[in-house]
Amino acid sequence: MQTVGVIGAGQMGAGIAQVSAAAGYDVLLTDVSQARAEAGKAGIAKQLQRQVDKEKIDAATRDAILGRIAAVEGTGGMGGCDLIVEAATEREEIKRAIFADVGRVLKSDAILASNTSSIPITRLAQATPDPARFIGVHFFNPVPVMGLIEIIRGLATSDATVAAIEAYATTLGKQVVRANDAPGFIVNRVLMPFINEAVFALGEGVATIRDIDLGCQLGLNHPMGPLTLADFIGLDTCLEITRVLFEGTGDPKFRPAPLLVKYVEAGWYGRKTGRGFYDYSGSEPVPTR
Ligand code: 3HC
Repeated sequence: MQTVGVIGAGQMGAGIAQVSAAAGYDVLLTDVSQARAEAGKAGIAKQLQRQVDKEKIDAATRDAILGRIAAVEGTGGMGGCDLIVEAATEREEIKRAIFADVGRVLKSDAILASNTSSIPITRLAQATPDPARFIGVHFFNPVPVMGLIEIIRGLATSDATVAAIEAYATTLGKQVVRANDAPGFIVNRVLMPFINEAVFALGEGVATIRDIDLGCQLGLNHPMGPLTLADFIGLDTCLEITRVLFEGTGDPKFRPAPLLVKYVEAGWYGRKTGRGFYDYSGSEPVPTR
């Protein structure tokens, strides 16, 4: 494997492009427009510069990594890619349209992977040119920092595809866990009920935002409390995945907390909108309850 295509230059796609280029792959990074792809690459440059400032890498390494990433328009030029990772918006119709597009250029032995956090791989595979060469690769945010890739095998995914993706993940320096294609896979199946329960506790007046977060952070030795983490992930994303768990299993234990639904309806998605459980308008996040 030498050339990796990444579709989607947002936080996840840019992170995937960055770690792939850092591992020595040539990367083609695309988004809905050339400008968005360029913006993704500019964000990577900023991240790498921070590492230079902290003397974690030197300027030559930064330049070499950036030199391996080309921001490109559309997927038409991805015919030479050995692996294409889709990290676009988490909407099934968008992903399906991308797969149809990519299907026109994908090499006969190339692998197509999706960074979906919740859409069933077996179902998405139906929109790809070859379900045997389609697989889920679930990265975690922030991609350069988090040490895990969750690999999700669809019903038709071949052993060779699984082996190739495991080898790719290892070259990125990530540990791999393997999940079968079930709602939420492993990590979100466990994480989202934890976050959702924290929101139930808040809504029922069990404790304040500060105390729920500090209690879980220090009491469980987690880097962030569940409400801070929900704001970090995006409350819209948390709700979406919780709904996938609820609808996919039919189990009432996964029902979304009413307060989570309300926050999303209010447009309070967390850090990205400047307000979630915390207000991000000042220099430090301030709990809103
Ligand atoms: N991109 C790249 N590097 C970043 C970064 C980013 N967005 N944010 C932080 N970092 C790096 C910093 O540069 C620093 O690197 P260094 O040790 O080499 O200097 C290191 O991470 C630690 O950063 P900070 O000192 O600024 O801050 P913290 O120590 O508070 O760590 C954190 C920040 C890494 C985000 C930490 O709070 C954490 O691990 N939080 C939990 C994150 C988590 O659970 N992510 C998974 C979310 S679930 C998911 O992604 C799945 C999806 O499907 C929902």
